[in-house]
Amino acid sequence: MKITSILSLAVALCVVSVNAAPVVDSKITVLKPTLATTIAKAKPTATKPKSETKAKSKATKTTTVAASKPTSTPTTTGTKAATTVKPPKTTTPAATPTQPAKPKDPCSELAAQGKNIDSILQFNTVRDCYRAQSFKKDIADKTLTSVENLLGNFYIFLDQAKEATSAPFKTPKVDLMAGLKKIRETKWKDDYDFNMALTYLTFSANDGHMAYRTTFGQPISLYAPVVNGVQNIRVFYADDTQKGVPKDSIIDCVVNTIDGVPALKAVQDFTDRTSAISKDPGVRLNDALASISWYNDWLIAPGGFSKRWECSSGAPRKLTVPWIVKPSENFLFNTFRDTATYWNVQCLAPLSPYDNSRQKNDSGRRYKENNEVGFRTNEAPGTTLFRERGFIQMPNGGKNGRNDAPQTISKATEVLITATTAFYKINKSDACVAVIASEEAANPRFDPSDYLQFIQGLEKLRDGGCKKLILDMTNNGGGAIDFAYFINLLLFPTAKPYFVEDLRSNAYIQGAAKAAIKQPSAVTVFDARGYVSLATNKVFKDDSMFTKGVSIKRGGTAQTYSQKNYFEYSWSFMPQAKNNTLPWKASDIAIVTNGFCGSACTMIATRFNIVHKVKTYAIGGIYKTPLSYFTFPGGFVMDNESIVADVKKLNYNAKNGPSKLVVRSSAKIAVGEIYATENSTIPLEYDTKYFTANVHLDQDLVSARNPDSIWLKIAADFKK
Ligand SMILES: *[C@@H]1O[C@H](CO)[C@@H](O)[C@H](O)[C@H]1NC(C)=O
Ligand SMILES: *[C@@H]1O[C@H](CO)[C@@H](O)[C@H](O)[C@H]1NC(C)=O
Ligand SMILES: *[C@@H]1O[C@H](CO)[C@@H](O)[C@H](O)[C@H]1NC(C)=O
Ligand SMILES: *[C@@H]1O[C@H](CO)[C@@H](O)[C@H](O)[C@H]1NC(C)=O
Ligand SMILES: *[C@@H]1O[C@H](CO)[C@@H](O)[C@H](O)[C@H]1NC(C)=O
Repeated sequence: MKITSILSLAVALCVVSVNAAPVVDSKITVLKPTLATTIAKAKPTATKPKSETKAKSKATKTTTVAASKPTSTPTTTGTKAATTVKPPKTTTPAATPTQPAKPKDPCSELAAQGKNIDSILQFNTVRDCYRAQSFKKDIADKTLTSVENLLGNFYIFLDQAKEATSAPFKTPKVDLMAGLKKIRETKWKDDYDFNMALTYLTFSANDGHMAYRTTFGQPISLYAPVVNGVQNIRVFYADDTQKGVPKDSIIDCVVNTIDGVPALKAVQDFTDRTSAISKDPGVRLNDALASISWYNDWLIAPGGFSKRWECSSGAPRKLTVPWIVKPSENFLFNTFRDTATYWNVQCLAPLSPYDNSRQKNDSGRRYKENNEVGFRTNEAPGTTLFRERGFIQMPNGGKNGRNDAPQTISKATEVLITATTAFYKINKSDACVAVIASEEAANPRFDPSDYLQFIQGLEKLRDGGCKKLILDMTNNGGGAIDFAYFINLLLFPTAKPYFVEDLRSNAYIQGAAKAAIKQPSAVTVFDARGYVSLATNKVFKDDSMFTKGVSIKRGGTAQTYSQKNYFEYSWSFMPQAKNNTLPWKASDIAIVTNGFCGSACTMIATRFNIVHKVKTYAIGGIYKTPLSYFTFPGGFVMDNESIVADVKKLNYNAKNGPSKLVVRSSAKIAVGEIYATENSTIPLEYDTKYFTANVHLDQDLVSARNPDSIWLKIAADFKK
């Protein structure tokens, strides 16, 4: 039984203490009224040229209504220039000597602003406090050593990443160790630049991990539907209770430019730099944009680029929206006074071994603590980031910002809601849908309810006459590998449900494996007794899985990997055991995702497609470009603390083990890698020939808000 997913390396240093990273220059956006649709309220306001120049004053004037409003707060120009665009309430732009004299210590200001979790921090203050932290060579060196040891010993894709992937999703080669060396040799201007360099290096692997916290929030979410054969960035949702957001609807307005760059390009550039969620740029685009998401309820996931925008009155407008910056869970309130104490409190590691008060409250996640290797509760960083962006509750009883819009789901009837899945029957159709939101199921040995309810949902669909089954796994960031194996066996009871995997098996890990086998039972990831041998289909009884590994050449180097293995599984409650079979064959099933089907989710989607030939649909992405239906399959992920804890249990003190880091940080890396089939030689994470969905559907104005319109399309496809 194994936990979750996949993923990679997430370094998150002290900079992370606010929920945001000033990664983007963002400020102004111009929208043009949309030609194609509904929206353009023919408010014959001004007839301003479509010019989208930076001419602030002009644009602001034109837009009478909206543009005057947003002005009330300080806005920013972004990372480099600290210039605050002075809110021209009535002020004349140029005249005022804008900047207040350089104030006192920016971290003192931050301390004053950050009173509690609801505090709104000023973008500039946060940035200036980050920038005030000087570069400390000794600490940087120790940080790099710690990260080198972690990646060097354990990161499963270290060598694979040195090989480029092939079409259709080409990603460049990434040599992480060389990148770390280069960072070590560079003289950084300040601590922030150093940390960002480390972050972007880890991003470059595009391994569904990402790191540094997300964006500065903005009250506007964007999407990129295709309307009449043209893909544009448009406004998906706007919270008009926030400063800067016009009260007249800007929903569905086309965004022309963002900071002067064509909007689609601006978003793609942004997400290519910061998403790191996929090797497919189309999935990264989806990751930046808003989407409807089922997570106990239908909600809007705002997307990583939740910022800038504007329009609606018939002429182009420009709006400037302030960043909304809030303290993150890692922000330590009332503990620092200024730049120096900020460093001590937020950046330096605590002296005590591990400070639990900084742990997230994970009690909502329903995992049970135990020692089984497979049940470590490590969520893929890509999934964590997605969740940290939060969700927007739909206004107007699920109408999602558009007064004339129907409820999110109106053409299908809810049959059962469970913790992981919502089951629907499509009206006047024999097709049904299981919206699988995650594989986060409790360990069935302690609490089988998630598993039993999933069976119950399918049985209800079957008993209600469903002949076709659509699995909607949009925005599914994974969960327990055991639950994925279970779904595989439930729908394909005669096929193998597991995924073949391996781990690294270098000298350090072999030493750990030898120490592990001397323990009374398997309580660490290095213990071969926690894995089933692919060769014998029996649980390993000795350390040979690691000590008699196989040499594989990748990225120009031969390294030893463990023998192939998989996790044990067995469930006593399969319905087939009671002759209570489920009716669907592969040709009766379809899978639909927006590409964000990560880690454990991929173990269902790819098994259904690659082995059983279930048809896959992927929605959104880049117009007329193949799109993946899954991302970051990885293998399984562990956080640095779990690895360190395992080593400790073994009393194993080999050189270059995971080392103490002097700054606060957390890192997660993929430790195991899975393969599409038993005979694959390239790990699935890099096996791009499998990525593309059978069918790529564009997002449109309706489908983006009403997933049931996609379900109807797929239901109709079954009949062809
Ligand atoms: C953690 O979250 C749960 C559910 O949201 C809540 O009931 C509980 O009080 C929280 N615990 C702490 C220590 O904050
Ligand atoms: C679909 O069925 C549900 C429940 O029977 C009903 O509330 C809904 O109005 C129906 N939708 C349509 C479009 O007929
Ligand atoms: C299920 O059906 C098979 C063949 O029809 C029969 O041999 C078997 O005993 C049945 N099992 C149960 C648990 O009823
Ligand atoms: C890993 O975790 C250990 C124990 O908490 C810590 O001392 C070390 O600095 C961490 N290393 C990294 C790279 O995060
Ligand atoms: C893998 O290779 C073995 C030996 O050549 C073969 O028997 C088996 O069918 C192959 N499995 C798959 C999934 O192709």
